[in-house]
Amino acid sequence: MRRPIIAGNWKMYKDVNEAVELANSIKRAAFDMDNVDIVICPPFTDLSDIGEMLVESAIGLGAQNCFWEKEGAFTGEVSATMLKSVGCQYVIIGHSERRGYFGETDGTVNRKLRAAVDNDLIPIMCVGETLEEREADKTPDVVRTQVTQGLKGFDEDHLGQMVIAYEPVWAIGTGRTATPEQAQEVHVMIRDLIRELYSGSFAESKRILYGGSVKPENAGELMKQEDIDGGLIGGASLKADSFVDIIKTTSRVYEGR
Ligand code: PGA
Repeated sequence: MRRPIIAGNWKMYKDVNEAVELANSIKRAAFDMDNVDIVICPPFTDLSDIGEMLVESAIGLGAQNCFWEKEGAFTGEVSATMLKSVGCQYVIIGHSERRGYFGETDGTVNRKLRAAVDNDLIPIMCVGETLEEREADKTPDVVRTQVTQGLKGFDEDHLGQMVIAYEPVWAIGTGRTATPEQAQEVHVMIRDLIRELYSGSFAESKRILYGGSVKPENAGELMKQEDIDGGLIGGASLKADSFVDIIKTTSRVYEGR
């Protein structure tokens, strides 16, 4: 059975004091959750402090982005090596806000993915269609292209523990969630594609998270779906109560499997 991941994407919220407080509350409340991998992805400026706080903890630390070069004259960028040095184990790559507001493409996602895996960071590669694309029945094509191009040139050994997050753009921060069936359908599509590109056992081992307005109220139904292996949580990860609630719900669902 795949072990679920609940990852919090804090986006551009929380200064360092707020971040340490939130991370501490999560740590206290979720210390006994041993069947779920918990990951928090704060802004860059919080990573070093939180990295120190989490040294002895089972909670994983992730960044929200990285650049593909190791170092150099790239003002404003942060490399995978640097993330590793402050204690990150994960990095989100190709979030739709990066694609939409900062010009990221499947090509840049591919290069960032390479930098992540070369530095032993577990990439959480985000894919997902816009509302327009869904309404034009283009979801399968869009997701297929994003996954295929993103993973271009990688073999199974390279990808290691790579995680994929399916995040329909129309469900992010909108309060509009994909129904469990809609999400499951795309997750199956992604898993089938991984099987086609790699092997059956590799596809079965890959964790595919759902993201887009996951809340305590809808987490249970989503996590019950066979091919949903956890969640990438935005808004509801900014408060310890709701984030831990989602973790506990996921833990219960998996206990019952
Ligand atoms: P949301 O964000 O939970 O606030 O919709 C999810 C994400 O963008 O990863």
